[in-house]
Amino acid sequence: MEFRKIRENVFLGGAVDWDRRLFDSLIPLPDGTSYNAYLVKGSEKTVLIDTVDPSAADGLMEQLKDVEKLDYVIAHHAEQDHSGSIPVVLAKYPAAKLITSPKGKPMIMDHLHVAEDRIVSVNDGEIISLGNDALQFIHTPWVHWPETMVSYLNEQHILFTCDFFGSHLATTDMYATDEARVYESAKRYYAEIMMPFRHTIRNNIEKLKGLTIDIIAPSHGPMYDKPSFIIDAYKDWISDMPKNSVVLPFISMHGSTRLMVEYLVGALAKKGITVYQFDLSAVDIGKLAISLVDAATLIVGTPTVHVGPHPVVMYAATLANALRPKLRFASIIGSYGWAGKAVEQIAASIPNLKVEVLAPVLCKGLPAAKDYEALEKLSLAVWEKHKSLGLT
Ligand code: FEO
Repeated sequence: MEFRKIRENVFLGGAVDWDRRLFDSLIPLPDGTSYNAYLVKGSEKTVLIDTVDPSAADGLMEQLKDVEKLDYVIAHHAEQDHSGSIPVVLAKYPAAKLITSPKGKPMIMDHLHVAEDRIVSVNDGEIISLGNDALQFIHTPWVHWPETMVSYLNEQHILFTCDFFGSHLATTDMYATDEARVYESAKRYYAEIMMPFRHTIRNNIEKLKGLTIDIIAPSHGPMYDKPSFIIDAYKDWISDMPKNSVVLPFISMHGSTRLMVEYLVGALAKKGITVYQFDLSAVDIGKLAISLVDAATLIVGTPTVHVGPHPVVMYAATLANALRPKLRFASIIGSYGWAGKAVEQIAASIPNLKVEVLAPVLCKGLPAAKDYEALEKLSLAVWEKHKSLGLT
């Protein structure tokens, strides 16, 4: 695909990766992704904003075939899906300087072996003139690495944000026209990449307050010509107040834990609580991450394997611990054959979650009447805790 015009002398390029299904060898991409690069032709300086994943470098170089001169290449972020093609771009344009944040400079040198004399680092708030327009750099750490920054095209009111506000979504749409679809993809992206840093993201959004933004142009997924759509979504996701929902990932080997899960889900639903139930033997972990963005409570369901929890459940607990959602409460349900340490081991695996642990329900073998009573009590305890936060 050729560069597509956004505004006079501002173009969208890069690559749509329709078929990629895994990112960082971890994150499922059910809808593919894109690596957006932007070309800005100022009256005096020409700039390429971000590059593409190395797998898509040939396409970017084809887009640049008629661009005779580049003065600057901007690296908002050192991760290779945006920076990976910088070496080939710099090789084609030997006079071009690479602009990055001070923290980005050594990262680009380490990851891509770009020579130090090709790199200019810019301070927070620094502006470079392009002639009839100018690019202002705003440091926005932890969206998604510590060196990340965004840039603002002063006259055209376009904010280039790289990962920030991005979505893993392959589409030919230049803008977020299918808002429901983009919302889901952007929330998935936030959950997997940025949720652990939500307090820092709050500061970053605050820093953008004074800007008049007509277009947000991320380097994944479509652009936003109604910026409030994605900014408001982010404000909701990063807020401290959870929603009246429970996330319930589980594994069942012989059906006992599944019976408990199904009973508890029904009991919670009867009390008006939204439950997201995930059989971990089949789930897309991105869906699990999305549901953790807003949930007040996490309840993990596990059978006992040898003396501990099922390893797949431990993986989910470790993931939740790493993503640091705004959960307030947690509990554990499940079954065992003779003895076990499932509760202790799961509780020890989630130190980052500042949660109150509600009384777990473990049963021996198939759940019996007393176990269902305990599950009923757990559902009531969850409802009371949610009520105490004003969620019900
Ligand atoms: Fe899209 Fe953190 O790279």
